[in-house]
Amino acid sequence: MTRTLFVTTALPYANAPFHIGHMMEYIQADVWVRYQRMLGSKVYFVGADDAHGAPIMIAAEKAGLTPQEFVARIASGRKAYLDGFSISFDNWHSTDSPENTELAQSIYLGLKDAGLIDVRDVEQFYDPVKSMFLPDRYIKGTCPKCGAADQYGDSCEVCGAVYAPTDLLNPYSALSGATPVLRSSEHFFFRLSDPRCVDYLTQWTQDGKLQPEVANKVREWFVTDETGAGGLSDWDISRDAPYFGIPIPGAPGKYFYVWLDAPIGYLASLVNLFNKRGEDVAAFLADPATEQIHFIGKDIVYFHTLFWPAMLHFSGRKVPNNVYVHGFITVSEEKMSKSRGTGISPLRYLELGLNPDWLRYYITAKLNSHVEDVDFTPDDFVTRVNSDLVGKYVNIASRVAGFLSKRFDGRLSAEVGADGGELLAQLQAQAPVVAELYESREFGKALREIMALADKVNTYIEAHKPWELAKVEGSEIELHQACTTGIEAFRLLTVMLAPVLPGVATAVADFLKVDQFSWDDTATLLGEHTIGRYQHLMQRVDAALVDQLFEAPTPEPGLDAEVAPAPGGQELADQISIDQFSAVDLRVARIVAAAVVEGSNKLLQLTLDVGEAATRNVLSGIAGVYQPTDLVGRLTVVVANLAPRTMRFGVSEAMVLAAAHADESQHPGIFLLEADSGATPGMRVR
Ligand code: 2FM
Ligand code: ZN
Repeated sequence: MTRTLFVTTALPYANAPFHIGHMMEYIQADVWVRYQRMLGSKVYFVGADDAHGAPIMIAAEKAGLTPQEFVARIASGRKAYLDGFSISFDNWHSTDSPENTELAQSIYLGLKDAGLIDVRDVEQFYDPVKSMFLPDRYIKGTCPKCGAADQYGDSCEVCGAVYAPTDLLNPYSALSGATPVLRSSEHFFFRLSDPRCVDYLTQWTQDGKLQPEVANKVREWFVTDETGAGGLSDWDISRDAPYFGIPIPGAPGKYFYVWLDAPIGYLASLVNLFNKRGEDVAAFLADPATEQIHFIGKDIVYFHTLFWPAMLHFSGRKVPNNVYVHGFITVSEEKMSKSRGTGISPLRYLELGLNPDWLRYYITAKLNSHVEDVDFTPDDFVTRVNSDLVGKYVNIASRVAGFLSKRFDGRLSAEVGADGGELLAQLQAQAPVVAELYESREFGKALREIMALADKVNTYIEAHKPWELAKVEGSEIELHQACTTGIEAFRLLTVMLAPVLPGVATAVADFLKVDQFSWDDTATLLGEHTIGRYQHLMQRVDAALVDQLFEAPTPEPGLDAEVAPAPGGQELADQISIDQFSAVDLRVARIVAAAVVEGSNKLLQLTLDVGEAATRNVLSGIAGVYQPTDLVGRLTVVVANLAPRTMRFGVSEAMVLAAAHADESQHPGIFLLEADSGATPGMRVR
């Protein structure tokens, strides 16, 4: 029976390029999806960027971009990874989209109608310089337990204590350095503690749709003690402006907390896909046969098994059928940081010319249906790929294909002999076993089964020794049958490996002159058929190339590349020639006027005399550091031939030069360059 599936992977924050952890999840989901498609099921496999939230807003501001520009820059890098590793998403969208705004607002209104939204006053730290409430991770101070300086607002990295930001001694804003003040503001809460939610979720999380270990973990979150404490708490779903997010209807200045609209982004991407295709998404979601499945990491189970199904159910929508949770990936047993990755970049992997199917195979071979971590070890990777994929699998074709083209014009034999027939029957009999392992995400076991079959095929080939038969006169028939058996077996193995190795499977289909594989092909043989000429299907992994994965990475278009200790927090840029330098036209400018920009706490608007007939308008990210009155009359240096840039607050016609440490949160301050007295506007700096 074919199925209709709506499958997602967790939406990545749009503040950094993908790391290997993302790729592991995409590979896991993609293998499962490709297997389902091979069965003939209709799959809608979608992803999107998780665009909203304070960290992205702040990172964009630091980069001198609007949040939309910042997110777009990250999003533009996604395709290289997804195509590069053959991740077969049907759509990639963004949570910062009209579809998501509409869905989030409508789900919220549904919850409000159901009486599940509360409004309460909340007291929080507020940064008087940045004019914003500070998320916990942007408040630092001295640990109240051990006295360690510069600890985050929620926990101490030195002694491990966990506390509220208000417990910190000498708290300061990591954004401006200012001492935060306590301020009260109205927040909106989703009443997860309402008995209706508790009852519904108790049932939903414990009825067998979650992995057993996940269901057990989730059960702990419901437990209350004899005083009634513990159990599910209401969820603060609002944030105050300035915030990059979706406005809460009927509540000016309030936005949905990013985690409210993030999972709704799954639906937004689906709606976007259906609209593009002119298909009816409402009918699709209303169909009880449609299965909704989310692949996620173990760190975001709470959101996906409590908030998400409750939001959907109580706003009258379809709820997930399954949430499949995986562990983390370590590299040589080293834990990865969410923002820094592990030091091996998926893009570098591709740039080095390493075959994407190798990584797909290696990761798939290590995955099972449980929440277990996976380790990427370079030596193990080289060994596993070379011995399994090249030594066992590809080797089969390379040992027999040449004889078929040279001696039989590529024609397969109609008969394969008794032992050939038996071997092929064994392979076919195992296909349903492998299928069940794919279905239940026991991928490691599936690949071990397939490799055990490949071992049998190699044993058969060694028994027949086609390379010797080819030299013995009168052995034509045996040679033909042995090589035919080899190719038939190779085809069956390829069908079984196709969910994992899409690149190889396509090349094999080409070589065998057959259509793309479906799972039903495991039940048939080629029989009388003519195959093409064998082309080399896969190389051995070169260990030296794998080593290069760990060398200093090429900086990616991301904005948070890790930098080694370096002057000013940043490595020197590549050397340039004097001509390249001369291409940048630096001029002395006098600031004739300066003003705050309404609606921006980052930008100042400067009017500059650059020695030309007219003054120039420049928007510069130095508010917070300089008062307009400090600046008027000063001489500074500008890049005068930079293309004008249209920003939200107007057009900026030059760039004022200023110095800053690469990590402004640790080394605050922006320092405007100044020309010595005597210089006049328009003089070139060289
Ligand atoms: O943890 C994360 O990376 C989140 N951006 C995942 C969001 S998943 C879904 F809810 F969108
Ligand atoms: Zn401490």
